[in-house]
Amino acid sequence: MDKKYTAIVLAAGKGTRMGSKTHKQYLLLNDKPVLYYSLKAFQDSDIDEIILVTGKDEVSYCQKEIVDKYRLTKVVKTVEGGAERYDSVFCGLQAVENTDYVLIHDGARPFLDGQILERCKKAVQKDGACVVGMPTKDTIKIADEKGYAADTPRRDLVWNIQTPQCFTYPLIYNAYKEMMSKRAEYQNQNITDDAMVVEYFSKHPVKLVEGSYRNIKITTPEDLQIAQLFVEELKK
Ligand code: CTP
Ligand code: MG
Repeated sequence: MDKKYTAIVLAAGKGTRMGSKTHKQYLLLNDKPVLYYSLKAFQDSDIDEIILVTGKDEVSYCQKEIVDKYRLTKVVKTVEGGAERYDSVFCGLQAVENTDYVLIHDGARPFLDGQILERCKKAVQKDGACVVGMPTKDTIKIADEKGYAADTPRRDLVWNIQTPQCFTYPLIYNAYKEMMSKRAEYQNQNITDDAMVVEYFSKHPVKLVEGSYRNIKITTPEDLQIAQLFVEELKK
C-alpha cells in the first residue's frame, strides 16, 4: 500500500527578530502572505495532507484568509501552537492521525519546491529520518564565552540546516514525547530544530539532504528584500 505523508507547517511564531507589527509569516510577497507560499508547495506536491499550526488568535484568520481563500484543500486541520517552536511542533504531532511520515516545515520558509520534496520523500523512505540543508558558504567559527575564536570546523563538513525535516511518525512522536515530559530540563538548551530532538532521544541517524540556497527562512528585514527578488523571478 502507498505510504501516507503529512506535512506540519509551523506558523505560530511571533517574529521577534523581524520586528514588524504583523507577524512575518503574514507579511505580503506580491500580494500574498509568506505562509501561502509555504502551504502551496505542499498543495502542489503529492504529499497527502497538511496540518497548519498557528497562534491562538490567528486560527480563524488563517482558515478564512489563507486556506479557504486560496483553496488549499490539503489543509485538514488548523491547530493552535505553543510558546516555543518545539511546543508548536508537538501540538502538530498530536493533531496527526494515522500517518507514515511527517515533514515538519517552517511557515516562514516560502521557497520550498517540488524537487526538494521529492528528495525528502526518497531519503525518508530509505533512512527514516532526514533534514534538508545546504553546505555553508561562509567559514564557521565556534566562539568562546569571551567572544574569541576558539575553533574552526572543517568547512566541507558544515551545513546550514533548513526545513522540511522528515521522519517516520513513531520516531519523531516518541522522541518529542520524551522531551516534552522533561520540558523544564530542556527549555534552556536552545532546541531549534527537530533533528536535535531525534539526536537527543534516539540513536536513529539523521540523513542530510540537499535543499536549495533559495529555501531561505524569512527572519530579519534583509531576508524580506531577498524574498521580494525571488518572487519577482517566479512571476516571470
Ligand atoms: N514557530 C512556531 N511556534 C513558535 C515559534 C516559532 O510555530 N512558538 C514557527 C515560526 O512561525 C516559523 C518557524 O517556527 O515559521 C521558525 O521559527 P523562527 O524563524 O524562529 O520564527 P519566530 O520564532 O517567529 O521568530 P523569532 O525567533 O525571530 O521570534
Ligand atoms: Mg524563533
